[in-house]
Amino acid sequence: MQQYELAVLPGDGIGNEVMPEALRVLDVVGAKYGVRFAYQHFDWSCETYKSTGAMMPADGLDRLRDHDSILLGAVGWPGVPDHISLWGLLLPIRREFDQYVNLRPVRLLPGVTPPVRDKQPGDIDFWVVRENTEGEYSQLGGRQGEGTPTEMVLQTAAFTRHGTDRIMRYAFELARRLGKPHVTSATKSNGIYHSMPYWDERFAAIASEYPDVTVDQDHIDILCARFVMSPERFDVVVASNLFGDILSDLGPGVTGTIGVAPSGNINPERTYPSTFEPVHGSAPDIAGRGIANPIGQIWSAAMMLDHLGLPEAGADVVSAIERVLVDETAPRTPDLGGGATTQDLGKAIAEAVEG
Ligand code: NAD
Ligand code: IPM
Ligand code: MN
Repeated sequence: MQQYELAVLPGDGIGNEVMPEALRVLDVVGAKYGVRFAYQHFDWSCETYKSTGAMMPADGLDRLRDHDSILLGAVGWPGVPDHISLWGLLLPIRREFDQYVNLRPVRLLPGVTPPVRDKQPGDIDFWVVRENTEGEYSQLGGRQGEGTPTEMVLQTAAFTRHGTDRIMRYAFELARRLGKPHVTSATKSNGIYHSMPYWDERFAAIASEYPDVTVDQDHIDILCARFVMSPERFDVVVASNLFGDILSDLGPGVTGTIGVAPSGNINPERTYPSTFEPVHGSAPDIAGRGIANPIGQIWSAAMMLDHLGLPEAGADVVSAIERVLVDETAPRTPDLGGGATTQDLGKAIAEAVEG
């Protein structure tokens, strides 16, 4: 029987509540498709930081390197500054393993009522392709004149040709693969003087390699408005690290809840493991109550199945999620308007996969 070695990092807060539901579903889908998932659990979190002074051991990345994939919950907890916890665990994983694509579907699922009027499943159905290893997320810069009236901080964004071209090519290839040959670029070349005109220049250059794909580009401000007013217009949206981060919370927000949104941090060349994690964070406001929506984590596991070459199993999980959501008697967590627990919803999806 084919066995996949998975590194499991629930992290902080609701990561610990939603991860067991994803593993529950993986066990069921594995049995159905004749494959086995072996889990190696890593409890690295803000607790680790508080007791050791680091988010993971010094050889942490090496301990993840040989796994087939990484499943991650969420990182970050009050009491540890977010830039310390995230640059101590999640961001090094993305960078060390060259997971330069952050792939985030935005889909209005059946049975979910969106906050925008008159939208049906199918009206909101697109992909955010977010650059995931450079751009605005950088440790370049520093503080000068600390404590003086001339104190200032410089934060440098780095856009390399290699990094810019490869994320754009990925977006164009995805558009072709989906049979939705249309790519929108998120820019801000009217206000940001160096990086965004360069982003536009490379977008035009890469677009010329894909004459069959139609393109448009929107400045990030109006793009945000259009996500809300006319989400039907989007198929694939390619964005820098920061713009993609913002758009990939806005998109699920427009579909009704951030709790369902999945992502893949993908190394397309498969030189390194890819990481699959929900878009949401550790949700300190609801953590410990067992009411977090596990769908974002479960759907992320489905994206992992696609990546591992098990697309039928992945589609089966997504179909189970959809069938549970349209069933009025099925459990729903509070973000979906119900009163069910994380486990109730996870079990219902696992049972739907089992058939
Ligand atoms: P968050 O996503 O944790 O929470 C935002 C809001 O969405 C909260 O009201 C929360 O209750 C709700 N929510 C999130 N996930 C939900 C789910 N599955 N079901 C129901 N409701 C859900 O964002 P935040 O509050 O900005 O961040 C909290 C912490 O998480 C911070 O430390 C932040 O840095 C971190 N964070 C980590 C990741 C990650 O690990 N990938 C992502 C985002 C935020
Ligand atoms: C996400 C998160 C992270 C990001 C944070 C926690 C660093 O918001 O995965 O979207 O900005 O990439
Ligand atoms: Mn985010």
